[in-house]
Amino acid sequence: MNVETREEIYNQARAWVLQAGTIIREKINDPLTVETKSNPNDLVTHMDKETEQFFASLIKETYPDHSLLSEEGFGDDLQSLVDTVWIVDPIDGTMNFVHQKRNFAISIGIYHDGIGEIGLIYNVMDDILYSAKRGEGAYKNDDRLAHLRENVQLHEAILSLNHFWLCENRLVDETRMQHLVKTVRGTRTYGSAALEFAYVAEGILDGYLTLSLAPWDVAAGIVIVNEVGGVTTTISGEPVDMLGRNSVFTGNPAIRKPVIKDFIEKGKK
Ligand code: IPD
Ligand code: CA
Ligand code: CA
Ligand code: CA
Repeated sequence: MNVETREEIYNQARAWVLQAGTIIREKINDPLTVETKSNPNDLVTHMDKETEQFFASLIKETYPDHSLLSEEGFGDDLQSLVDTVWIVDPIDGTMNFVHQKRNFAISIGIYHDGIGEIGLIYNVMDDILYSAKRGEGAYKNDDRLAHLRENVQLHEAILSLNHFWLCENRLVDETRMQHLVKTVRGTRTYGSAALEFAYVAEGILDGYLTLSLAPWDVAAGIVIVNEVGGVTTTISGEPVDMLGRNSVFTGNPAIRKPVIKDFIEKGKK
């Protein structure tokens, strides 16, 4: 993707994200239609769907040769990431959206031939846009984000995790996760993968470790975290597959190996 094309797409995507955010803020106190998907805690609202539709129609109209990979069914059924693909989560953190009316984000990653070119994560209620273009640094609104801290030790790190690590799962022995939780300085849970990636990029989290994320949860975050010297891999240390689900570590490269080798890998049965 050449630089001028990317700049034009970035400006367009940024304008649409801010516009969608304004609409959500205006409607934040309107009655919500809440449905469940795979289980009673897997929520979706009419705002998730309307916001995705907003992006889908604009993208199709403006860029008919681009594809869309998205959560709520208005995207394309993609088998590959050739050409330009918008990877959209209209509301990441739907449970927060429903219960808290804050702590959720719009997340858009734009990939070209499988390479992440643009990342946008918009914390709607706080009006904070995290953004990045590959090779041009990452920003929190207009402020450039600093490179991640060097030589971070695990015992000085704050790690974002969720409760699934406490539940039985086939990947990790829970005693190892208890050990990890006791080893790090602190843990946090925010309930929006996209915001957790953004906080890693901002340096207020040193890592985020999570099970089974979809492409739209991670696409934008990967681009933004890369731009501050962070890394994102599966929890086996493999590259993330942008067409499938991945259990993911994103964060400071200094702690990635110890987290994977000394805790996750050791925990495998
Ligand atoms: C979810 C959130 C949550 C993460 C889940 C995601 P959604 O996205 O990012 O923090 O733990 O795995 O599915 O459904 O609110 O867009
Ligand atoms: Ca969802
Ligand atoms: Ca999501
Ligand atoms: Ca979502």
